[in-house]
Amino acid sequence: MNDRIVDSEVKEEEDLFEKNIRPESLDEYVGQKEIKENLRVFIEAAKMRNEPLDHVLLYGPPGLGKTTLAHIIANELGVNLRTASGPSIEKSGDLAAILSNLEPGDVLFIDEIHRMPSYIEEILYPAMEDFEIDLVIGGSDGKSKSIKINLPPFTLVGATTRAGDLSSPLRDRFGIVAKLEYYNEDELRDIIIRSSKVFSINIDEDAAMELARRSRKTPRIANRLFRRVRDFAIVKGNGKIDLEITNEALKRLKVDNSGLDNIDRDYLSSLINKFNGGPVGVETIATSIGEEVTTIEDVVEPYLLQEGFIKRTRSGRVATEKAYKALGITFNFGLFKEE
Ligand SMILES: Nc1ncnc2c1ncn2[C@@H]1O[C@H](COP(=O)(O)OP(=O)(O)O)[C@@H](O)[C@H]1O
Ligand SMILES: [Mg+2]
Repeated sequence: MNDRIVDSEVKEEEDLFEKNIRPESLDEYVGQKEIKENLRVFIEAAKMRNEPLDHVLLYGPPGLGKTTLAHIIANELGVNLRTASGPSIEKSGDLAAILSNLEPGDVLFIDEIHRMPSYIEEILYPAMEDFEIDLVIGGSDGKSKSIKINLPPFTLVGATTRAGDLSSPLRDRFGIVAKLEYYNEDELRDIIIRSSKVFSINIDEDAAMELARRSRKTPRIANRLFRRVRDFAIVKGNGKIDLEITNEALKRLKVDNSGLDNIDRDYLSSLINKFNGGPVGVETIATSIGEEVTTIEDVVEPYLLQEGFIKRTRSGRVATEKAYKALGITFNFGLFKEE
């Protein structure tokens, strides 16, 4: 079997798991209290007025529940969800076709909306504002003409890891803007316990807590670890997930105590060992560890910043004492001053 086949099998297993594990209502969605409370009110109001919900922009790092929330919004509204992804909409006709096939009140979810080409974005402006689009088509006489198409009223839910990359005309057309936050350990424990119930396997509270601690504050990672630990429990243990099995599995999976993953560690190790703890520019670090700048900025740094492993200064990124400790390197206060 080559890698590709293995990859796609893993992907399939993940997809199936995803489908089973995704909460379907706001009540089942753990954490993000403020976002949930607000959405509940807006959804209720839209239903009472019999109008579509205002357009919603969800942003935050990967794995925090944006796609899940888009599904939940459609469920709670009792409408269809249509999905598209920013980079896959290439022609204005593609978007026009999606929009004109919506039913009144439907939710159109555009993932990675910051990666939509700008000429597509411009079609969205009148669509979002007035539920109409202007399409330029080639007439039979060779001249192009513009036709106006009326759309059913709909709700656009956009998701992005980079709200800053959205043009301001697009951003301004979202009535509801929600920033998803990292989850605390209690919330992640609840997510893991919920997953264990979905899969009818028992997990001890302390085992769930240990998984929560090592999940990088991210539900997707919590569920991924849970899935692997479940495998260990089924094969090696008595089918129940306890702390011992959990620690054993995490050790084999090389998930460390701080919850940092490999890229986090490479990043910190490069920053500390190659650049003396900084300050150094993000491009330089990205090159030195062979990662994309976007991955570093969207995935790695938000977590390291939030957890206080690094600081952002005018002259670049700087490692904090916590980063030295995490890598087991002595932090010399005389040499490295924190800003
Ligand atoms: N608040 C939450 N409660 C329970 N499970 C969640 C929550 N947020 C995310 N998940 C789970 O985490 C995984 C990743 O969520 P997803 O919506 O795909 O993240 P994103 O779209 O932000 O990358 C999914 O398996 C989802 O079921
Ligand atoms: Mg997503």
